[in-house]
Formats: sequence, C-alpha cells, structure tokens
Amino acid sequence: MTSRRSFIKHSVLSSTLLLPGALQKGLGTIKKLDQQSGRRPLIISTWNHGIAANEKAWEVLHSNGSILDAVEEGVKITEADPDSRSVGLNGHPDREGIVTLDASIMKGNGDCGSVCFVRQIKHPITLARKVMEKTPHVMLAGEGARQFAIAEGMPIEQEELHPDSEEAYQEWLEEKEYRPIINIENHDTIGMVGVDADGTLAGSCTTSGLAYKMHGRVGDSPIIGAGLYVDDEVGAATATGMGETIIKVCGSFLVVELMRQGRSPQEACEEVVDRLIKKNYEDIEDMQAGFIAVNKDGEYGGYAVHPGFNYAVHHEGGNEMEDAKSRFEV
Ligand code: GLY
Repeated sequence: MTSRRSFIKHSVLSSTLLLPGALQKGLGTIKKLDQQSGRRPLIISTWNHGIAANEKAWEVLHSNGSILDAVEEGVKITEADPDSRSVGLNGHPDREGIVTLDASIMKGNGDCGSVCFVRQIKHPITLARKVMEKTPHVMLAGEGARQFAIAEGMPIEQEELHPDSEEAYQEWLEEKEYRPIINIENHDTIGMVGVDADGTLAGSCTTSGLAYKMHGRVGDSPIIGAGLYVDDEVGAATATGMGETIIKVCGSFLVVELMRQGRSPQEACEEVVDRLIKKNYEDIEDMQAGFIAVNKDGEYGGYAVHPGFNYAVHHEGGNEMEDAKSRFEV
C-alpha cells in the first residue's frame, strides 16, 4: 500500500518537475482573462471568521470606502472578536503568557505597512496602515511599534488574557509541550484580499500567531511577500497556517507572480502549496498552510496542504464559505 509520505513525495515531485517548462511558457505574458468568469467587486478572506469580516468590508466598500478601507475595517471585526483565539488581543499567548500580534496591509501600487511582535494594541492592522501612510518605513517591531501607536493616539489595552486563553495557557503550562494540531492549533490568521469594481486591489492580514510560540517569534503574516502580497497589475494573495513554512517559499508573492505568468488564482495557489510541501517535506504531516488569491478580473481560488481549510467569498451574489481543496485528502 502506498504510504502517506510516499504519496506526498510522488505528488510533489511530479508537479515540481513540470514547473520550469510551465514558468517559461508563461514568462512575459499576462493571461488574457475571461471577463465572464470573474466578478468585481470581490472580497475573500480566510476561515469562518471571514464571513463577518467580509460583511463589514463589503459595507465599507459600498459606503464610498476604498478597497483599502474595506480590507482594514473588515479584519478589524476579527481583531475585536472576543471569540477569536488566533487573532487580536483575545488570542492565545506565547510561552511567557504574553499576547503578541503581527499584521500587514498592502495596496496594489506597492505601498505597504506592517507591525510585528506588538503588544497591547487592539487593532494592529490600523497600526500597520499608519506605518504605511505616516512613516518612511514598511515595518515596525515590538516596543517601537507600540511607542508609535502611542504617538498616534491609539489606545493601549490592559495586558490581561481572555479567560479562555488563560485557562488553556494554565493547562499548557502543566506540560509545556508544543504540539501543533492541524486546523485547530491557532494558525487561523485572517487574511483578506479584495478587488473593487475598477480592478484596484488591496489586502490585509492579522494574527496573534502560534499559541505558546517562543517570545519574540514572528510569523509570515507581517512579512510582505510571505503572508500578503498585492499588485494592481495582476492580483493579490494571502496566507494562513504555519508561518515558518510559508516564509520559506515567499508564498503570497509567489502566488501573485505565478498569476502574472498566466496561472489562474486556483492554479497559482496549488503550485505554491506544492512548492511549500517540497520545502517542508520532513514535517509536512503536522503542518497546515493555505493560500487564497484573487486576480484583477475578480477570479479567485484557494488551496491548502491538508483538508479543513475554508474561506469566505463575497461578491454581488452573496457571502458564502467555500471549502478549499488540498494536496492531501486525509
Ligand atoms: N500564519 C500565522 C503565523 O504563523 O503566525
């Protein structure tokens, strides 16, 4: 019987071997997209919390907000959600019992901002936007980011764990063992990408990162090109899952580049998941990662390493969850 690992190896090597030819074929050509197959405006975001986030983003977009306003306001819903253990200050803490947050935001013209390892800020996505719009920098970290928030008049929150996070943390302290659990273990970042009626794109990504991570650990979400990438010429992509695996392949940037070379959003996400599996092969059974992408014409796609990943899609026809396909089936 074919073992899971051998199935993985066979699938990944097969697709990887095809890559150079496919890349060459696509070089220099931007696929002429079928306008009928895409819908604009379109907003998509990761996981179930994407429904409420999309709802807000849609409302902003239809109240004369820009697509940038929409992706910021949308994920703020999740950042403030008392039921979220993976985004915002109600999330799980690191192994020292401290919640530290990562976030990034990007426009299709290349402007971008991010914050990482930041404490006591309810809306790190807003802080990331302020970094983009009010500083000459792209990324601020830790205490520097917090000081910038204070200078900008943002409120500083009490450092107190949500009672459910506190209880889980106390349980974790008994063994202090780090065991990622696919689709459950706190890697459910919210990433949102959208395109407006004119084809202008933007994206946002925000998370409290892995539960019980080392103090100071930063994931993919605030790293432009890893957790998020947007280009008005092509499309946008964002990632969720084990950040270390995503960073290794510059995942979101690669999705966008593959779309530039002619792949559909779905094809691009699948190809990057295969690349990610190849680069993280030894540990892949325990590592979930997924991507969602939208192109300039409002076509979209999503794909993950393992089953269980889903994403919310909002267009004129409604706001619905879709289950992502995955490289592994069980
Ligand atoms: N993808 C979120 C993280 O790894 O922190």
